[in-house]
Amino acid sequence: MTDTHIGNGFVPSGQLQLGVFFQGVNSGTVWKSPESGSQTDFESFRRIAQTAERGLFAAFFLGEGLRLREHLGRPHALDVVGRPDAQTMLAALASVTSRIGLVATQNTTYNDPADLAHRLSSLDLLSGGRAAWNVVTTDNAWTGANFRRGGYLDHADRYVHAEAFVNTAKRIWDSWEDGAIASSPAATAWAAPGSARPVYHEGKHYTVDYVPRLPRSAQYRPVLFQAGDSPEGRDFAARQADVIFSAHPKLDDALDFRRDIVERTVKAGRGAHDVKIMPASEFILAATPQEALEKKNWVRSLQIGPEQAIAYLEQFWGRELQGFDPDGPLPDIDPVVEETSETRGSGFHGAKAKQLADQWRAEARDKGLSIRQFVSARTSRGDSSFTGSYTDVADRLAEYARTGAVDGFNISPWLIPTGLDDIVNHLVPALQERGVYPTEYAGSTLRENLGLATPVRQAGSLQSTAVGNTAVGLEV
Ligand SMILES: Cc1cc2nc3c(=O)[nH]c(=O)nc-3n(C[C@H](O)[C@H](O)[C@H](O)COP(=O)(O)O)c2cc1C
Repeated sequence: MTDTHIGNGFVPSGQLQLGVFFQGVNSGTVWKSPESGSQTDFESFRRIAQTAERGLFAAFFLGEGLRLREHLGRPHALDVVGRPDAQTMLAALASVTSRIGLVATQNTTYNDPADLAHRLSSLDLLSGGRAAWNVVTTDNAWTGANFRRGGYLDHADRYVHAEAFVNTAKRIWDSWEDGAIASSPAATAWAAPGSARPVYHEGKHYTVDYVPRLPRSAQYRPVLFQAGDSPEGRDFAARQADVIFSAHPKLDDALDFRRDIVERTVKAGRGAHDVKIMPASEFILAATPQEALEKKNWVRSLQIGPEQAIAYLEQFWGRELQGFDPDGPLPDIDPVVEETSETRGSGFHGAKAKQLADQWRAEARDKGLSIRQFVSARTSRGDSSFTGSYTDVADRLAEYARTGAVDGFNISPWLIPTGLDDIVNHLVPALQERGVYPTEYAGSTLRENLGLATPVRQAGSLQSTAVGNTAVGLEV
């Protein structure tokens, strides 16, 4: 039986939130269905965001990829790509939505804090306090090859750098006093003299000497998400994040992850409930379990077609395998690489190629699986996929709420732009009937809707030297 005890004073809220992750890359999004729409047109984003808002979703979420994925030295051509710049897209979405949070994934490795903090403040102000930043460090040097500074940080350094970056961003957001802007024409200055403090940071990778250009938003400052799963990444989240976009949706795994995060959060001097957890997940739903299963098989056949199955193995063999029959056995020739390097940009790590090939050949032979069946099983997203009838899946999710394993799910629709329709039309009401999902938005800001406390100002952020006695409004 699953151990549901969390410890460290954690009490489950019994509630779930939903977010939607418009992926824009990878094989998870089906593009061969007659219903598949554009990955780049604003209309697709608008439709998903407005459907999510109709379903009272807390967040609309965009990932970030800094370079096209590559396969055997060429751009990987079989899966969807797109991803317009997140802040540009979210700014546009802010004008056609009113409650849903707008989450931009932005890395700390290739950005500069003053610039990024300003852009996120802008999104937060123009959306009325609905912006969030999903802090990522980005995990390979290759990604950085199109940047002036290249992939210049190893894993451990990336989080040291990320911490300094986020602390600096927080100081920037904390630097304007409350009520700094004149609230009546009778005030002597538009911005009260000395109401914004300069931020100075000198570190190994950058120096910031800056008077922040914007006051605080309706939610004080953007909500911080974090995605990164190593012990360093988890500790970083425990110190800094409001929400973790996790890779642990399976119930027992989600409970272990919650325990671990609560422990790290408490150790970092924060409360057991201070960091929310929303794992990535996929939902394949229908009126009956049988229909849902049929739909799942159909979705999988589109996610992993014959070419995708061969391309998947090519990543591990490091060579072309086009001559092999996708419906035949795994290739009897050996990999030409020592270490595997899965499609660049997919975020996985190398393994011993020959050893892996031998292991897979044996497994496929024992189970009688063809290339296509083997790849389909390996990439089945079994852990992150919820397949079933609306009511069965609602019951399963209610168990997550009851145990406190997660605070919600960040759903990756397998179909754009209509992939949320059945979730909003059928799953959301079923969750509401079970009392585990909101029946209205709690407030107008993302922070309110996620039930997050107002942040405490960074120590000392209002104590540094004021900008002379000049009205800051004239300075900026
Ligand atoms: C659920 C999840 C989503 C992620 N999304 C992105 C992304 O959109 N863009 C990106 O550059 N990195 C993304 N990352 C990668 C992280 O930035 C990080 O570089 C990577 O996980 C390695 O750090 P780690 O060893 O702490 O996991 C994601 C990681 C996770 C776990």
